[in-house]
Amino acid sequence: MTLKYYVIYSDTILLTVKKCLPMSKNIELWVNRKDFRSTQIVTTDIPAPASGELVVAIDKFGLTANNVSYAVSGDMIGYWGYFPATDDWGKVCVWGCANVIESNCDGIAIGERLWGFYPMASHVLLTPGNIRTDQFTDVTSYRQTLPELYNFYRRTDFEPDAVRQFENERCLLVPLFTTSFVIYDYLLYNDLFSADQIVIGSVSSKTGLGLAKMLRNDPNISAKIVGITSNGNNEFVEQLACCDQVITYGNEEELDKSLPSAYIDMSGNTGLTKRLHTLLGDNMVESAMVGATHWDKGGKQETLSLIHI
Ligand SMILES: NC(=O)c1ccc[n+]([C@@H]2O[C@H](COP(=O)([O-])OP(=O)(O)OC[C@H]3O[C@@H](n4cnc5c(N)ncnc54)[C@H](OP(=O)(O)O)[C@@H]3O)[C@@H](O)[C@H]2O)c1
Repeated sequence: MTLKYYVIYSDTILLTVKKCLPMSKNIELWVNRKDFRSTQIVTTDIPAPASGELVVAIDKFGLTANNVSYAVSGDMIGYWGYFPATDDWGKVCVWGCANVIESNCDGIAIGERLWGFYPMASHVLLTPGNIRTDQFTDVTSYRQTLPELYNFYRRTDFEPDAVRQFENERCLLVPLFTTSFVIYDYLLYNDLFSADQIVIGSVSSKTGLGLAKMLRNDPNISAKIVGITSNGNNEFVEQLACCDQVITYGNEEELDKSLPSAYIDMSGNTGLTKRLHTLLGDNMVESAMVGATHWDKGGKQETLSLIHI
């Protein structure tokens, strides 16, 4: 018997990879915490659930730059702690869907479908607590000191069809669009910091595009929306028509430097941040780092502290 294993990766398309794996084993992708490009596949027996535990089979998850950030900030925020590995190895967390295949937990039945936070693996043990009709909390002891947001699991069988039919989008976009909305709300709440120009770094990311689109769709916002992206994504962003101006990396001089500007950075490229601060000077009225799609071009705090803010 085989499990169809789906990985959803997206840049501009939704790519579904199907691979046949033996269902009799638990297969995990481990990432070296000191060198994220180094990985290994680890195969073990499927764990048996102790009292109060479930075993779920993961068949689908989204994979974007945000998951890379879970590795980059794994020690700082605690992402390595949700599904610990051993030595220098870790399991990068993803948002996905799984079915309960074994249950030793009253109230959660075999066959239930769950949406939530998983390792990149075929199976995992969960320990439900605070069980409600629509969700439960994982109460595994070592997860209780970690950010609570990631311990909730939605019991999707009990959700309306209108929600259930967007399973792929949910795995891929929900954590990102939620962040886009929070930034949009942050800008609105602060009257855009009196900026007449909103500059979005790494705008072609899903989080960046969500923000640009919400700003564009808001009839009360007249600020110029500027996206910064790479050459390869320039045309794609232009086609979406959510920016007034699209600038490619290295051409930041094209910015209108006379406008008070708020910079929302998804790139984590400290060289870019420094260039923008230098160009805009006192017209940089807000600068918020949200992401690190270019995490390998990140710098240290002392580099940024040279910037006049
Ligand atoms: N703080 C938070 O709570 C929070 C929440 C959600 C997301 N975020 C952050 O926001 C950022 C965007 O996340 P996302 O999931 O929306 O990103 P995504 O859609 O996967 O971003 C893809 C973009 O990343 C850039 N990129 C740079 N190097 C790349 C590479 N080697 N392969 C593919 N893309 C590459 C490209 O944009 P350009 O060419 O335009 O640079 C590409 O279009 C992440 O750093 C994420 O951690 C933060």
